[in-house]
Amino acid sequence: MPARTHDIEDLRLNSRMYDAVIDEIDGRRIRIGEDWLVDWASCNYLGFDLDEEIIEAVGPQLRRWGTHPSWSRMLGSPRLYPEIEERLTALLGAEDTLLLPTISQIHLAVIPALAQQGTLIIESRAHKTIYDGCVFARGQGATLRRFRSGDLATLAGLLHEAPARPITVCIDGVNSMTGDIPDLRAYARLCRENGALLYVDDAHGMGVIGERRDVEQTPYGLRGNAIVRHAGETYDDIILVGGFSKAYSSLLAFLALPTALKNRLKVAAPTYLYSGPSPVASLATVLAGLDVNDKRGDHLRAHLYRLTTKLLTHVRALGVHTLNSHDTPIVEIPISPDHDLIAVSERLWALGQYVTLAPYPGVPRDEIGFRIQLTAAHTEADVDSLTNVLSTLDHDGALRRSNPSQRR
Ligand SMILES: Cc1ncc(COP(=O)(O)O)c(C=O)c1O
Repeated sequence: MPARTHDIEDLRLNSRMYDAVIDEIDGRRIRIGEDWLVDWASCNYLGFDLDEEIIEAVGPQLRRWGTHPSWSRMLGSPRLYPEIEERLTALLGAEDTLLLPTISQIHLAVIPALAQQGTLIIESRAHKTIYDGCVFARGQGATLRRFRSGDLATLAGLLHEAPARPITVCIDGVNSMTGDIPDLRAYARLCRENGALLYVDDAHGMGVIGERRDVEQTPYGLRGNAIVRHAGETYDDIILVGGFSKAYSSLLAFLALPTALKNRLKVAAPTYLYSGPSPVASLATVLAGLDVNDKRGDHLRAHLYRLTTKLLTHVRALGVHTLNSHDTPIVEIPISPDHDLIAVSERLWALGQYVTLAPYPGVPRDEIGFRIQLTAAHTEADVDSLTNVLSTLDHDGALRRSNPSQRR
């Protein structure tokens, strides 16, 4: 067993929270075998997977288009595609958008096309699929450099010393592990000053954070139109990548980009040319999701924010460490160094909670723990049940303290 996958293989063999088969769902509860658990592992932030209006929109589109178009996009796209692109472009306030099935495919196709034989600079906590796209680009002649997330001074140095142009800087938007929101304005300024392009993957911000206005009900802002609008930035020299597979519960992803680049990708991106498209059901749920977002999105986000702050207030009052400092609905809880992740996952299971486990090397060793994702389909009672369980685990010393000298 390679050392890098040893801990994950251990989970696969010994934890019921890895590679599970879900037998049934009921709202945000899942049944696995005989056990009903509250599901904190889903990233369906807006609860659209369970929304009746969205579910009902699928049938009519299936009857109109069949189950799956099976043309690559180069060959032809059902009209649903340009309809979504137009609506999305307006929502994001971008020049243009391009839809492709997944973010992973976008990174593999687009990062090498942008990087060419220039310099790629990636932040240390950027998602593994961005890193894979960068490694692929390196194989085609790009030079790859890394900097610690948030370390703008080191990034500035790397930008000055970049061995070749063009320069592309790749970062996560809302970080998939910590839930934190990077200072996009600072990144954008630094990139523009150095003639670099900023490439941002906001898989987890799309649908959750959005433009800021005086009338907003929460610090998430309004409309869920992702990090560029949330930061009050323009799309000049910024490529935004996002997906619908989290907040919109659909298999579809996008780039917000200039039309000239879109046209270039239409002849250069293998996934546009050769990959199968998203299923019609996913296109239908995105279109219906955009309607629901217009009508009820801010209300759902307000509920999501309430649940998230309720959980975080409890965690912080306990003195338990979390990597989340921006109150987004991704709450990573590292466990104590002298506790075992599989044993903790069994305790969580026994107490009716299903979470995302965060083993090494997906996270650094001192962040091994579990992640809780809240969604608008959770209830206050769900959060109460979880906070009780966290209190119990903390009482037993299983959770890392925010101030390590204050042990239980
Ligand atoms: C930040 C980030 N980027 C990319 C992905 C992969 O997205 P997709 O499933 O659309 O390939 C994920 C999935 O968890 C993610 O969290």
